[in-house]
Amino acid sequence: MKRILVTGAAGFIGSNFARRALRQHEDWQVCAFDALTYAGNLSNLEGLDDTGRFEFVRGDICDEGAANAVFESGLWAVVNFAAESHVDRSIHGAADFVRTNVLGTQVLLDLARRHEVPRFLQISTDEVYGSLGPEGKFTEDTPLAPNSPYSASKAGADMLARSYYETHGFPILITRCSNNYGPYQFPEKVIPLFVTNLLEGQTVPLYGDGMNIRDWIHVYDHCDALMAVLERGEPGRVYNIGGDHELTNLELTHRIIAELGKDESVIERVKDRLGHDRRYAIDGTRIKDELGWSPRIDFASGLTETVQWYRQNESWWRAIKTGEYLEYYKLQYGAA
Ligand code: NAD
Ligand code: DAU
Repeated sequence: MKRILVTGAAGFIGSNFARRALRQHEDWQVCAFDALTYAGNLSNLEGLDDTGRFEFVRGDICDEGAANAVFESGLWAVVNFAAESHVDRSIHGAADFVRTNVLGTQVLLDLARRHEVPRFLQISTDEVYGSLGPEGKFTEDTPLAPNSPYSASKAGADMLARSYYETHGFPILITRCSNNYGPYQFPEKVIPLFVTNLLEGQTVPLYGDGMNIRDWIHVYDHCDALMAVLERGEPGRVYNIGGDHELTNLELTHRIIAELGKDESVIERVKDRLGHDRRYAIDGTRIKDELGWSPRIDFASGLTETVQWYRQNESWWRAIKTGEYLEYYKLQYGAA
């Protein structure tokens, strides 16, 4: 059995990754480690206990003692998803971002090194590269120029991971992925926010001129790419991951509106995000050439299925929007 530690496993991508890892690898055990912040949701992990190869531990990655306990059982790999992940929140306050994203990553790197864990996958982001003009794409050699406190803290974690390879020869891998969408995404991010607002009969707040561009990838494709990097990536290397699907926010909004059978009148133009990155685009040549991975889910069908998922899982997102899901934690674990 290979035992892997998945931090941030109760969040959007971590929970999708844990589910896929258990489904695809019958010889893997997953230890899910998550602090259950506002973004963590135990219902994202429902059903995984049934595999008999899954364990959930509530803990903070900055708390060395708590994290050390899960390393004691022996690990083949650490996959570090745990992070404060929302740009708008980082504009209102950067402290939690620096603490979890930078300090927490350092704690995990030190523990993994001490316990001689053979692989450490740091989930970074394309936002570490900053913003593009109308032409060009981010390659792994693009200099880092983060513009938000969120992306600056992620760049700090990314550089720390790199330094452990350069300094200690510790076998880290780094991925920098573009914007994900799909099941279990917290409805503060643009796609689930807009979809659930429309399902509730509300308007959708489009920032600024709506011409900022993001490259969209389905979370299942992202998880498959992470699996390829974890199993076959070269230690010390960075891998970009993209969906090859650039859209302006206005185009994205039109697609969502069409899926929900609404019209333009639901768009509410609101003030722009501070320091709003104009465009992200990924050059995914390295992961394609070296690991044979490219995205498979086309955006049109991915979006239709995602909207369908939010329609069918109304109780999941309603509990988040009302805050009811937090009561569930308190029952299970006491107040945070
Ligand atoms: P998310 O906000 O949905 O989940 C984050 C999880 O981390 C939550 O379950 C939360 O409880 C947990 N967490 C936060 N602080 C913690 C701490 N101190 N200790 C332990 N657990 C803690 O985020 P997501 O969208 O699933 O993103 C996961 C990772 O992927 C992040 O590192 C993010 O930077 C990166 N990423 C996200 C995207 C995207 O489009 N969402 C794209 C590229 C990279
Ligand atoms: O690129 C990868 C990054 O993608 C990840 O590292 C982050 O964790 C993830 O949150 C995401 O960051 P973005 O800031 O791009 O995602 P968000 O969903 O917040 O916004 C997407 C775009 O939509 C962005 O240009 C801002 C715009 N937007 C967002 C919200 C929440 C709106 O116009 N209105 C909104 O209400």
